[in-house]
Amino acid sequence: MCGIVGYIGTQSATEILLSGLEKLEYRGYDSAGLAAVCNGQIKSVRAKGKLHNLREKLVGMEMPANIGIGHTRWATHGKPEEYNAHPHTDDTGRVAVVQNGIVENYRELRKDLESRGHKFVSETDTEVIPHLIAEFLSNFAGNGKGGTGNRENFLEAVRQTVNKLDGAFAIAVVCADYPNEILVARQQAPISIGLGQGEFFCASDTPALVSHTQVVLSLENGEIARLTPLGVEIYNFEGDRLNKMPRILNWSPTLVEKHIFKHFMLKEIHEQPNVVRSCLEAYINSDWDAMNSLVSPTNLKLSSSLYKNLEQVEIFACGTSWHASLIGKYLLEQLAGISTTVNYASEARYAPSPLRKNTLLIGVTQSGETADTLAALAMEHQRRLDKPAEFESRLLGITNRAESSIANLVNQIIDIRAGVEIGVAATKTFVAQVMAFYFLAIDLAWQRKYLSGERIAEIINGLQKIPAQMEQMLEAQDSQIEDFAHQFNDTQDFIFVGRGINYPIALEGALKLKEISYIHAEGYPAGEMKHGPIALLDDKVPVVAIAMPGLVYEKVLSNAQEAKARDAQLIGVTPESTEADVFDSVLAVPAVDELLSPMLTVIPLQLLAYHIAAHRGLDVDQPRNLAKSVTVE
Ligand code: G6P
Repeated sequence: MCGIVGYIGTQSATEILLSGLEKLEYRGYDSAGLAAVCNGQIKSVRAKGKLHNLREKLVGMEMPANIGIGHTRWATHGKPEEYNAHPHTDDTGRVAVVQNGIVENYRELRKDLESRGHKFVSETDTEVIPHLIAEFLSNFAGNGKGGTGNRENFLEAVRQTVNKLDGAFAIAVVCADYPNEILVARQQAPISIGLGQGEFFCASDTPALVSHTQVVLSLENGEIARLTPLGVEIYNFEGDRLNKMPRILNWSPTLVEKHIFKHFMLKEIHEQPNVVRSCLEAYINSDWDAMNSLVSPTNLKLSSSLYKNLEQVEIFACGTSWHASLIGKYLLEQLAGISTTVNYASEARYAPSPLRKNTLLIGVTQSGETADTLAALAMEHQRRLDKPAEFESRLLGITNRAESSIANLVNQIIDIRAGVEIGVAATKTFVAQVMAFYFLAIDLAWQRKYLSGERIAEIINGLQKIPAQMEQMLEAQDSQIEDFAHQFNDTQDFIFVGRGINYPIALEGALKLKEISYIHAEGYPAGEMKHGPIALLDDKVPVVAIAMPGLVYEKVLSNAQEAKARDAQLIGVTPESTEADVFDSVLAVPAVDELLSPMLTVIPLQLLAYHIAAHRGLDVDQPRNLAKSVTVE
């Protein structure tokens, strides 16, 4: 986690670094800091808490520098206190480092350095890095290698240092003795380089770059970039110079602004109809007709090697992506007849299931950077090496960031095309991930002849109507739910229930509420309430029941009645036509095909969580203790 930025050029570095950090605050916001090279010295300023604290500290402070690095932290090693905030420096204060990631062997490195007289002032793993770099630099000077007079020494010191570090990290380094360069290194944690006109940037994620440049170069694992006012040079950890081509982003900087909305989360909820439209445009094959089975109904264009003799699907994901994957399982099994398992990546990586033949492995991650998901996929790939052909790894990624780390691990990507999502609580990326599963299930159903052309056409027609239905719901419900949410200002517990394809929506509704409003909430399969959780119910615990016409409609209504009989306040996410006496209040959803209903039932739950948190005056976009991209285990 954590966000890092760097700038070198002709402008004043401080403001550029601060505005870059603002765009990365979603990655962590326990503390922040920056270091600039001013008049041959490193000047470092750090503050506990959110970025505005750092901003305030900098007011009136002279920082005449055109080169600097910055950091916004999500604490891993050491409390979120100023002394643990980055940048960290060596004893002499001439080398400053910011890190995103974890140096796993920092304890032994620190012990070693301490035995040679180095003094440490923080509890972090990062602090060993500037000490190691400084030690290499002073050794070079002692060995008559020209000391600070030799330009290659800084690069060499950083290169030798990163070769000593175990773990997943991205770092940016400045040194007072090399005032014209920033060194950036990557090992399993994301970092991109931005190329401007006579100015160069680095950042953990591209939103921090787009207002300066659209020309971007992503560092790969085991690479070091040297940024100078004249350009960017790339090396590998062995010290060989590499040739790399940048790419053009074509991102509008306005994508990362809130516009008329009070929070990014609300903006992103309202963007969902267009996200679904864009997915449909990209992935539904308009040349397909139900009578013509020669072309696929989708444009996924997945390689036939992923599908060959396919017997099952295994999915790895975390958080909201895990919920989207549970809907994916339902769709793959019910529409395409493919047995599917969904794993928490953090669990599966330490308890892999026995190898199964002809399995498609899918990693689902909006960021493409979640450490557990990447590790689970890498492990699955590794344990299939040297096995007979039927066990060969076939890896598919479902992500919103086609250029992210997951792309290096998998054979193919489904890009969910949701656009930048800034709110820490995932909304539009969730619906876009679910869309990806509709396309995958339809494609497989067609390949395997599991569904008739008519049924596939029916599903596609239903999907085409979703954007307009979402729009109607958003228009009708945003202010309705804003008013409705007031009554929950003091509520301490919520229960969400659903069944079948809407059970994962109950989980997602509960997660959204927990994440941003800090209210305790649980999602349950409605039929399981009577096996324990029903004991929690009384008139203080609202129960949200998702009841959509279809296979389990009557069952959910009965389960809802059972909750009502225990005095719970019953909120229905259900069509208007549902018998009025069942629910105390209804958040109405159009009566669509049950299989498509999660695309709509999630909307009132997102709005409910949002408005409850907003009424409580909470920081909706940056909830406490969370981060959007979890690049640590
Ligand atoms: C974090 C975020 C969640 C997200 C989860 C998985 O916990 O706060 O919103 O669902 O990571 O992220 P991924 O990028 O893998 O989908």
